Amino acid sequence: MQKLAGKVAVVTGGGGGIGRAMGRRFGQEGMKVVLADYDAHLLDSAVQELTDGSVEVIGVPVDVTKRDSVEAMRDAALERFGEVHLLCNNAGIANQGSGQIWELEDSDWRWSLDVHLLGVAHGCEVFVPVMLAQDQEAHIVNTSSGNGGLYPIPRTPTYAVAKAAMTTYSECLWGQLRDARTMSWVSVLFPSGYTPGLLNTGIWNQRERPAEYARTSDRPLRRGLDILVEQAQKEGREVQFTPLDEVADQVVVGVTTDQFWLYVPSEASDQKVEERYRSIVERRPPSYLTSPVL
Ligand SMILES: NC(=O)c1ccc[n+]([C@@H]2O[C@H](COP(=O)([O-])OP(=O)(O)OC[C@H]3O[C@@H](n4cnc5c(N)ncnc54)[C@H](O)[C@@H]3O)[C@@H](O)[C@H]2O)c1
Repeated sequence: MQKLAGKVAVVTGGGGGIGRAMGRRFGQEGMKVVLADYDAHLLDSAVQELTDGSVEVIGVPVDVTKRDSVEAMRDAALERFGEVHLLCNNAGIANQGSGQIWELEDSDWRWSLDVHLLGVAHGCEVFVPVMLAQDQEAHIVNTSSGNGGLYPIPRTPTYAVAKAAMTTYSECLWGQLRDARTMSWVSVLFPSGYTPGLLNTGIWNQRERPAEYARTSDRPLRRGLDILVEQAQKEGREVQFTPLDEVADQVVVGVTTDQFWLYVPSEASDQKVEERYRSIVERRPPSYLTSPVL
């Protein structure tokens, strides 16, 4: 999709972090923006921020795990702007299902899969038909993660498994849209930027868990980012943060150049992907896997 100005973008998880940065950037490109989020408070402040920046924006409360809620988001977007050209399935949750894989509860799996896999599927099921009927250029960006999307961090299985699944979902979607010869394209985003570092977003916070995903036992949880920072300091390493605007820039470049795999060049992750590939074709165990403290 070469021209963004005047087009309509819908961003889930648009209240915070990466989604909010994308919304801001799309607005700067002259797009009309629909920010959608589960967290009403975050949503309000994000809409205010974009409105203050003279962006044509609406905020829509959504729970991506519920198809009818995603349908209501579509209806709100169409009612306000009449069409949708760019959908960013970006909502995500902090990984509270980390730890020993054999100690996880069903609710740990369901929460992660419902948000990261079904949430993306709902977005595509509801918006692709709209995009096809419009018969104009359109694009879908699904936010994955290097963790699972490229190779997993073993200590975070519910997150890694869900991100791997939605990456495969995105490949299937790309293939089907190609076969259907449409003007709709897909990207899968592995959030990263040109400044190497961690992305300081709300995902590291402990979020209140919806009642339907309650655990039967509590486990002590800490803000994941604090653990990583502490660990780095112990090892005498400096902690750097990647500006979220760099991730949003990457999305704009990816959408306007129809790039499927969206992540900045990184020797370290390319090497891991290659090691993973070699372990598969050479039938060796996945000994390339490492477990950062989380
Ligand atoms: N921050 C990172 O280091 C990082 C790295 C790789 C991938 N990601 C991915 O980037 C995406 C954005 O995350 P972020 O880092 O900006 O975190 P964030 O917490 O700041 O933003 C995620 C947003 O999704 C919303 N959300 C959660 N569940 C929802 C639901 N059921 N329905 C609708 N909205 C819901 C949250 O309210 C939140 O505003 C996620 O998919 C995440 O997995 C983040």
